[in-house]
This record gives sequence, structure tokens and C-alpha cells, in this order.
Amino acid sequence: MTATRVLVVDDDPPSNYLLQSVLKSGGYKVLSAEDGVEALEVARYEHPDLIVTDILMPRMDGYQLCREWRADPELAKIPFVFYTANYAEADDERFALSLGADLFLRKPSEPDAVLAEIGDLLDRQAAGSLPTRRPARKDETRVLKEYNARLVHKLEQQLVQLHEANDLLTQMLTGTVHAIGKLTEARDPYTSGHQERVAAIAWAIAEKLGHERHFCEGIRIAALLHDIGKIYVPAEILARPRRLTEVELGIVRMHPQVAYEVLTGIMFPWPVAEYVVQHHERLDGSGYPAGLSGDAILPGSRIIAVADVVEAIASHRPYKTAAGIAVALDEIDGNAGTLYDTDVAAACIALFDTDGFEIPEPSAGAGGPVKAYSK
Ligand SMILES: [Fe+2]
Repeated sequence: MTATRVLVVDDDPPSNYLLQSVLKSGGYKVLSAEDGVEALEVARYEHPDLIVTDILMPRMDGYQLCREWRADPELAKIPFVFYTANYAEADDERFALSLGADLFLRKPSEPDAVLAEIGDLLDRQAAGSLPTRRPARKDETRVLKEYNARLVHKLEQQLVQLHEANDLLTQMLTGTVHAIGKLTEARDPYTSGHQERVAAIAWAIAEKLGHERHFCEGIRIAALLHDIGKIYVPAEILARPRRLTEVELGIVRMHPQVAYEVLTGIMFPWPVAEYVVQHHERLDGSGYPAGLSGDAILPGSRIIAVADVVEAIASHRPYKTAAGIAVALDEIDGNAGTLYDTDVAAACIALFDTDGFEIPEPSAGAGGPVKAYSK
């Protein structure tokens, strides 16, 4: 006796595989398709004894597949089963059955329950007691209206889930970036919190310049990581309480390139590695590592450069005491147009002088932009 053949239709490979395994354990021979279009092709060629299909699938979903199935004289008598996780509400079931399905199963179900339901359905089919399921008599407009309503409802739910997943991923990214930044600074207690403070200043400058939120986010992420290349600089050089020798300076100046090598493989939605490698470049070409000048320096890097200088001058370092914000702003003002971007310099000075911005203390965690000023 030949084994009963079941066509499994699901675009999600793990779900498809799982259902196939369950059916095989029940002694069925299994055929498989990834969407409604492929299912019809397979069915018209193979003539399975039963079909079990997901609903939400690309190209042709389960609802449409059911309609095509029942409209095809060669397939119409083959039992049709929906097996779904996304369309599991009572209205979904009612609509699915109205299209002519024989059975509506919700994921996840216990394997034994799935096998029992399918076995029962096939027994009734064999005994001739399975009622001929025809689509309920409705005019086409009504079916389409209901179909669209179900679809829109599901897509809205999926959109909400997508937003939630996206928020979670963003939080994870920010948390990871903070953690990496802190690891870098753990070797150099004198600059503890430097990257977070630079990130807060850079974010505020970017906002002040009128950049949209997505751009500002990229600036913040890059600023939080801009010095991670210092992980390769020996700690005793970083903490040396005097001016560095030329050789030591050469080592320190490798840090943007080292950071670039570390970051360039990460698929950020911003050019983070490029922002970071250019954060010591200067408009007149006097910076490092590439000696870039003018427009060759990215707008994001120009912002981080100014924020970095302001924070460094205003804060204590092993080789100097904190000079204060006034000295930092003098440096920016005096070199605007030669070392620093004119617009970025003006925005930065206005932030502190007009808006009352203050360099914030490092935050404890991975929150949003640190705002320590009121307009
Ligand atoms: Fe740096």
C-alpha cells in the first residue's frame, strides 16, 4: 500500500521542516512548497492526498491558495488544511473555512494533536463522510473586502511587532556600543567618560545644525567609539603625565586607523568606521592619519572632531589640568575655517554661549542622547 502523501506549504523553513518531521513520524510521505504558487505547481503534478498550508506567505498566501484549490476541478476534492500562527483569531478561522477549507489548525499544536486531526480528516475522506467543502456563496467584492480587511489587520500587527523588535535591537546596539566604549576607557582612567561626553556634545551640535534624528544617532554611535583604537596603545603611554615623545605620539596616532580596522566589518546603518577614522583630520590637511582636507572630510567627522577637542581641553588629562570651557571655545573659534568646519564651530559655540549647554557627566547606561541644557 502506498503511503498517504501530504503537501506542506510554508515559507518559513524551520516551520516547514518541523511540520514535515511531524507528518513523517506519522507515516506520511511529504511533499513541500514555499508559497501558494509553488504549491499549485507541485499539486497539479503530484496530486497529493492532502494539503496543509500556512497563511501568510509571499507571492500567493494561503487564503488565495485555498480559493484556487477549490476552483480547480483536479484539486477541489483534496482535503485542505490551514495551519497558522499569525492568523489564529476566530475571525481568521471563520474566513478560512468560508473559502472552502476542511480544517483550521493553530500553531503551535502538539504533534500528536496534529496527527490525530489529520488522520481523522483522511478517515472521513476515505469513508466518504467528508462533506464537500465549497467556498461560501459570496459575491467577489465581499470576499475581497473581507480578505483585505484580514490582510491589513495582520500587516498592522506585524508592523507593530517589527517596530518593537527594531526598538529592542536599537537598545541592544546602544548598550553594546556603550560597553565597548567603557572597556576602552577602563585602561585609561584619566579619560574615563570621554567618549560619552564627546557623544553628548556631538549629538547636540548635530541637532543644532538641523540634522535629522537618524544622522544624529550615527554621530552618537561613532563618537561613543571614536577612541576604541587606543586599545592598542600601551596604557603607560596613555597615562604618561608629560608631553609624549615623537615615537610615543606616532603610536597614539595609529588609533583612528586601528579603530577603522575594528569597525569596518560591522554593518552599521551609518558610515561609523569612516567617521571614526577621520576624527583627527583637519580642514587644512594638517590632521592624521590621512592628512585629508576640505570636503574630503565627512560632515560627521567634522562634528566629532570639534566635540572631541572641546571635551579634551575642558577636561583633566594626565599631562594637564582642565583648562575649562572658555579656553576650549577659544580654540574652536580661533581655528574655525582652518582646522575646524566653520558651521560646526559656530554651532558648538552657540550651544555653550547661547543655549546654556553643559558638558554632561557620563550616563550610567545605554540611554538616549544626554541633554544637560535647557533652551
Ligand atoms: Fe582620538
